[in-house]
Amino acid sequence: MKQIFIQFGGTGDLVQKKLLPAYETLLDQGHDFHVIALGRRFSDQESYISFIGLDEQSSLRGKLHYVQYSMESSSSKLSLINLLHSLIGDTCYIELIYYIALQPSLYESAIYDIRDVHERLQGCELQKKIVVEKPFGFDRDSAVHYNRILQSAFTDDEIYRVDHYLGKDFMQSLLVMRFYNDVFKGIWNKHFIDHIQIIFDETYGVDQRLGFYEQIGVVRDTIQNHILQIITHLTMGEPVAFTPVEISHEKRKVLRSIAPVTDFSLAQYSSLKEAKDGPIHTPTYCSMKLYVDTFDFAGVPIYVRTGKMQKQAQSLIYIAFKHFRTSSDRQQDLVDNAMIITLHPQMTIDLQINMKEPDSPWGSKPVRFNFDHFSTFGVNTPEAYQQIIEKIIVSDKSLFPSIEEITDAWMAVEPMLAESSLEIENHADRSLPESARSLIETDGRTWFA
Ligand SMILES: NC(=O)c1ccc[n+]([C@@H]2O[C@H](COP(=O)([O-])OP(=O)(O)OC[C@H]3O[C@@H](n4cnc5c(N)ncnc54)[C@H](OP(=O)(O)O)[C@@H]3O)[C@@H](O)[C@H]2O)c1
Repeated sequence: MKQIFIQFGGTGDLVQKKLLPAYETLLDQGHDFHVIALGRRFSDQESYISFIGLDEQSSLRGKLHYVQYSMESSSSKLSLINLLHSLIGDTCYIELIYYIALQPSLYESAIYDIRDVHERLQGCELQKKIVVEKPFGFDRDSAVHYNRILQSAFTDDEIYRVDHYLGKDFMQSLLVMRFYNDVFKGIWNKHFIDHIQIIFDETYGVDQRLGFYEQIGVVRDTIQNHILQIITHLTMGEPVAFTPVEISHEKRKVLRSIAPVTDFSLAQYSSLKEAKDGPIHTPTYCSMKLYVDTFDFAGVPIYVRTGKMQKQAQSLIYIAFKHFRTSSDRQQDLVDNAMIITLHPQMTIDLQINMKEPDSPWGSKPVRFNFDHFSTFGVNTPEAYQQIIEKIIVSDKSLFPSIEEITDAWMAVEPMLAESSLEIENHADRSLPESARSLIETDGRTWFA
């Protein structure tokens, strides 16, 4: 079947950095489709091609088309319809895949445009899909509202809501590690786990994305989607089968067991205010503590910190296991047993344990058993967006959150969304906000990294 991606936001950061390379790789691998990139900035195909710096040899040559498109202009809709007509020709077996990579405030008009374009295409009956980027909405109510509009033109089977973290190999590995190794099943609960830390620090700031980020902030950009999805993967029960429906069923149990998060703090790096005249009330850093109130995880604190402009880029999960003896019973200081799952800079899993120190009478030393994804499996792990797009092409919904997961996740972060009335700490660039430090230290713990 002939497939055509109609890429809204074709001049945006996501499309340039992630989607075009993914399309290119998939074409190289033998998939066959066209991509129509829509954007306002460039008037013609030539300027667009030079903007993205498309290589002469690229498999996208001849497959990538550009249409200057603004939601406010009806003439651009006509240009899109004309191009679609010429690509469709007299082929009858065809699927149009509308991919919305726009800021959420534009979703509504994009969906109405799509409905209109689709209705005006004549000829054979066309199959269709729609792909929407995260964050899906601004809050629970807008997510429900957008979903209703989507469902006025698409069935739920045709709707793909993207959270590209689900396309990361590491997320799928987490489930395999937890559920394919019985050794972990016995200890993956409140009886053995003391607490969990999730640390996602970025070194870069908002940069050119200020206009977009200003409306979004860290909670909508990362916590409501990526971080809560990671928490579901860490704490969910074993699904009856590894099917989209069964996995989503288990994830929802987790999301519905998280009470709306009230123990949190927001911060903003200090140089952000120089990026614009006038105040910017947008949090760029967030730390929070939450509980998953399921039978297995009730009472296990999960500490999260994530945001921009930090000293070091790192993405890791620290699972601290309990120790049962008091320190006076111990012969010496033993390191806490822990599992450290690192996504960035390398994909590794370490088990922190105590081993005998050579040449010492029963002396111990903390060591790590290490699994390194790349040295074990090689560097050919597909990029997240490559996996996401491939799943869309083959109509496999296993890597996409359901609308119920999305609305449950909005409920969990609801208290954090009223940014204009919340206190936002100002912190020096490249430093950890004081509120993030005290969040965990109040409980007598420290961040692992
Ligand atoms: N960037 C990332 O790494 C990333 C990662 C994951 C998810 N996402 C998600 O992807 C979406 C897009 O993010 P982004 O970073 O690519 O944003 P961006 O760089 O700000 O791009 C926004 C795009 O929207 C287009 N646009 C704006 N107003 C328009 C209008 N009235 N009519 C038609 N087009 C219009 C812009 O076109 P012109 O510039 O040509 O005017 C541009 O192509 C967001 O939902 C974001 O959360 C982004």
